[in-house]
Amino acid sequence: MTEALLTHPRLITLEGGEGAGKTSAITAVRELLQARGHDVALTREPGGTPLAERIRELLLDPRDEALAPETELLLMFASRAQHVRQVLRPALQRGAFVVSDRFTDSSYAYQGHGRGLDAEWIAALERRAVGLKPGLTLLLDLDVREGRARTAGRDLWPDRIESEQDDFFERVRAGFRARALAEPGRFRLIDASQPPVAVGAAVTDALSAYLGTLTDSDLA
Ligand code: TMP
Repeated sequence: MTEALLTHPRLITLEGGEGAGKTSAITAVRELLQARGHDVALTREPGGTPLAERIRELLLDPRDEALAPETELLLMFASRAQHVRQVLRPALQRGAFVVSDRFTDSSYAYQGHGRGLDAEWIAALERRAVGLKPGLTLLLDLDVREGRARTAGRDLWPDRIESEQDDFFERVRAGFRARALAEPGRFRLIDASQPPVAVGAAVTDALSAYLGTLTDSDLA
């Protein structure tokens, strides 16, 4: 049973609220890493393996009865435990960079700050079921109403979490920002209200600077 939490320099995560532009940011990250000759595995949470994608459907499908916050947290970690073992560890072991669209910080922000679950419980799950922390986390920070306005046109069928009210997303945003403040060495806060080209440039700059700090053994 894993109890330690190891930071892996080649694990990079993208975090942020709804509509913050994670998809374009991930493309910018992948392109830069590939241009530097690195093997890149792109993945996402919840999901990333066939079974974890089925857990994602359970989590996001609004048709069932309301999920208890505790059920939501445990399903997030069930998906993550599977994802770490099936995808993240093997890719890191073969020397690839893993770029994940969301990871454990989302559980602290959404289930911790958003749903009000105890951070100590989340930390225990993180140590025991995950055991891995990213070396770099890019947080795309955006005003909640602006994020909503951006997703309004594209989400014809909002999922269970997207159907939450603004006060929930305000708590999630505050949760992400608090985590970024608490771990300035790992997080880079990106202002996602800028035009897409400027967001892409900020992402690329932050990633380049981070890559410049890695040693040969980090890359092996
Ligand atoms: P996505 O829309 O970015 O693909 O993420 C799916 C939703 O799942 C999004 O609303 C955030 C939420 N989520 C959590 O609540 N906790 C988590 O740990 C993760 C990974 C995602």
